[in-house]
Amino acid sequence: MLPWLQSDRFPLYLAPMAGVTDVVFRSLCKELGADVMVTEFVSAEGILQRDDRTRHYTEFDDGQRPLGVQLFGADGVRMGEAARKIIDWKQPDFIDINFGCPVNKVVSKNGGSSLLRNCPLLASVAREVARAVPVPVTAKMRTGWDSQNINAVEVARLLEDCGIQAIAVHGRTKAQGYSGLADWDVIAQVADAVKIPVVGNGDISGGQDVEVRRAQTGVRGVMIGRAAMTNPWVFREIRHYLATGVHAPAAGIEERFALMRRHCQMALARTTRGELEIMRSMRTRLMNYTKSLPGGKHLRGRFSHITSFMELEDILAEHLTLRHDPEECSQTGQSA
Ligand SMILES: Cc1cc2nc3c(=O)[nH]c(=O)nc-3n(C[C@H](O)[C@H](O)[C@H](O)COP(=O)(O)O)c2cc1C
Repeated sequence: MLPWLQSDRFPLYLAPMAGVTDVVFRSLCKELGADVMVTEFVSAEGILQRDDRTRHYTEFDDGQRPLGVQLFGADGVRMGEAARKIIDWKQPDFIDINFGCPVNKVVSKNGGSSLLRNCPLLASVAREVARAVPVPVTAKMRTGWDSQNINAVEVARLLEDCGIQAIAVHGRTKAQGYSGLADWDVIAQVADAVKIPVVGNGDISGGQDVEVRRAQTGVRGVMIGRAAMTNPWVFREIRHYLATGVHAPAAGIEERFALMRRHCQMALARTTRGELEIMRSMRTRLMNYTKSLPGGKHLRGRFSHITSFMELEDILAEHLTLRHDPEECSQTGQSA
């Protein structure tokens, strides 16, 4: 049994999100209370070709453990080789296999959610990877290909037979993308159908969601994605709610601004790329953090052109000054 999924635990996972859950963001979420992390998905072929960019995606710090590296691909033997390479480089706590990605580039090569339509191939991928590595192997999947083909229970049983030690289920089909609501009834059916732990994923944004899902289904943990992207404090908020039954106050403007600064400083400190490139790559991230802030629209406008850390300092300082001047604020468009 994976130590973080023992029966007395109920871990909060940070969901893997390509372009979002890099090593810096993972550190911030860990500090704010996330228990388990999974890197964004990396291609098994990219690992085998020693592609530097792919390797960069598997970077992590020991403080982020327990951590899994997520692989996608359609050839179990090659994926097993890639998994062994990653273990030689980095010794992650587990390897996670992606059976959920809906992106055409991945699906067209039989990877990600495409394997939900081909159970024999899916089983061979799971079996080969589990056989190849000395660390536990887990899987992340969707509920099925489309509403006519919801086969998560069958797939989960197969994965369990292949030696997979835990499964995260995102309660949407491939066809849904991110639309509609996650189907927690299917997640509950999967949790009841297998002995290995099931982690529920989809639309969790606060402590009450976790309390309800935990009470109504047999999931042994939850995984949080988009809510963390705009509000990484969600982990702290959930912990507070589960411990006290009371909602913690949302992170205030000073705390949000401090996190924006730190995120940029950490990204700048870790890179060999120039400040301009890093600050450009931070634009969307900074914009994400303004959701629900008074004056958020104005801030997003400013962040959309940001080119330096100094500029960030100026924008934040100016915003705090304007905040105390209602007349100025009303001219800057205060909708969140
Ligand atoms: C920008 C973005 C990138 C994602 N990348 C990955 C990925 O690399 N691997 C994966 O298994 N899921 C990926 N997902 C799916 C999430 O892990 C998660 O299953 C999904 O967002 C549903 O959870 P949520 O409702 O908490 O956001 C991604 C989602 C988003 C929004």
